[in-house]
Amino acid sequence: MSHPASATAKALWSKACPPLSGDIRVPGDKSVSHRALMFGALAIGETVVEGLLEGEDVLRTAAAMKQLGASVERRDDGTWVLHGRGVGGLTEPADVLDMGNAGTGARLLMGLLASHPFTAVLTGDASLRSRPMARVTTPLAQMGATFTGRSGGRLPMAVTGTETPVPISYTLPVASAQVKSAILLAGLNTPGETTVTEPEPTRDHTELMLRAFGADVRVQDRADGSRVITLTGQPELTGRHIVVPSDPSSAAFPVAAALIVPGSHITVRGVGMNPLRTGLYTTLREMGADLTVTNERVEGGEPVADLIVKQGPLKGVSVPAERAPSMIDEYPILSVVAAFASGETRMNGLAELRVKESDRLSLMANGLAACGVTVRVEGDDLIVTGTGTAPKGGQNIAVNLDHRIGMSFLVLGMASQEAVGIDDESAIGTSFPGFSALMTGLGARFSGMEG
Ligand code: S3P
Repeated sequence: MSHPASATAKALWSKACPPLSGDIRVPGDKSVSHRALMFGALAIGETVVEGLLEGEDVLRTAAAMKQLGASVERRDDGTWVLHGRGVGGLTEPADVLDMGNAGTGARLLMGLLASHPFTAVLTGDASLRSRPMARVTTPLAQMGATFTGRSGGRLPMAVTGTETPVPISYTLPVASAQVKSAILLAGLNTPGETTVTEPEPTRDHTELMLRAFGADVRVQDRADGSRVITLTGQPELTGRHIVVPSDPSSAAFPVAAALIVPGSHITVRGVGMNPLRTGLYTTLREMGADLTVTNERVEGGEPVADLIVKQGPLKGVSVPAERAPSMIDEYPILSVVAAFASGETRMNGLAELRVKESDRLSLMANGLAACGVTVRVEGDDLIVTGTGTAPKGGQNIAVNLDHRIGMSFLVLGMASQEAVGIDDESAIGTSFPGFSALMTGLGARFSGMEG
């Protein structure tokens, strides 16, 4: 489905630039930021969040938690302070909860609301209103919640939580941390044990952070690679200090740019290295990338490291479908890097890419082809064949309200023969505020005009 650019749409062009150099830090992790706000809103006492991503998506979650009765304030020093309502203590919002572009915000919130006995209405932008919600409403209805939405189970949707939620044991039909988290969050205000089985492990920020707030969350890894997560309901969560690591999904853009712009050498500091998020970095190393992970440490309970990246020759690889959950948001930028590698890069098992902020599989395939890249889609696989030289470029791409599509094509333009444009720079603010300034500081040449 195509969506018109936002009312504030501003075109941005990117053209071939000199070698990138610099020492940077990218903004905070989006997944961790959403969860920090939600759990802080449920905890007793004060939660202080350092390094919160102040992107549009996360600000929507902050606003929603306020509408649900929590105290959420930004201090002048950039930290965020929450005073929560206690598990089960959220209150009926007086108005619609507008989650903007945020699939994570919307789906996790639906989980929270499922076990609170009042009705709330959720909506979002044209992208979010087109995304499937049945994946969360199906298990949450089994717990007792009621959902009234548009056809196909889409937003706007009224969620009526139940006063008497029942715990469920649910096996995820798709590898989705959002679905897992929605069920666990509903399970917080549910007596008894809520269990989620995931055939392939997905990002575990919910489990790690809930435990840190004081919940009893048990995780069992099975011999067949599946994982079983069990939450004991109605814990008392206690406010805490959270340090949000830099987002590895955002770091992917300057890292990719440094790998393809000739002569580049950059350092990206403090990047989250949760092993369920780092599939891209594994893949890039298999492609021969000069990528050093150094200064590995633990900050605020999450592993982080500094990344040193140098441009050099890359070769095509086959990315196994099992790796998809650990790099699901990174396929758009990987497909750009693959366009500069020698030979075929086959990205297997990308069905989930079709239901992100846009149909990323089609948008990347079509956009890359328009830019002169040899690319094809076979079923759910994306295959990019690079020649080891710069593709032509020279296109203005409609990003369809998708931040990662926008950033990916701007990175492509940084090393292609002709400038590449995007129709809506403002979309990038959902996950990476300050992207243009940061990239320009490294050497990127972005401007409002073509050429
Ligand atoms: C997220 C999970 C992923 C990812 C999204 C953030 C999360 O979505 O694409 O950007 O924070 O749980 P799915 O759960 O749909 O795979």
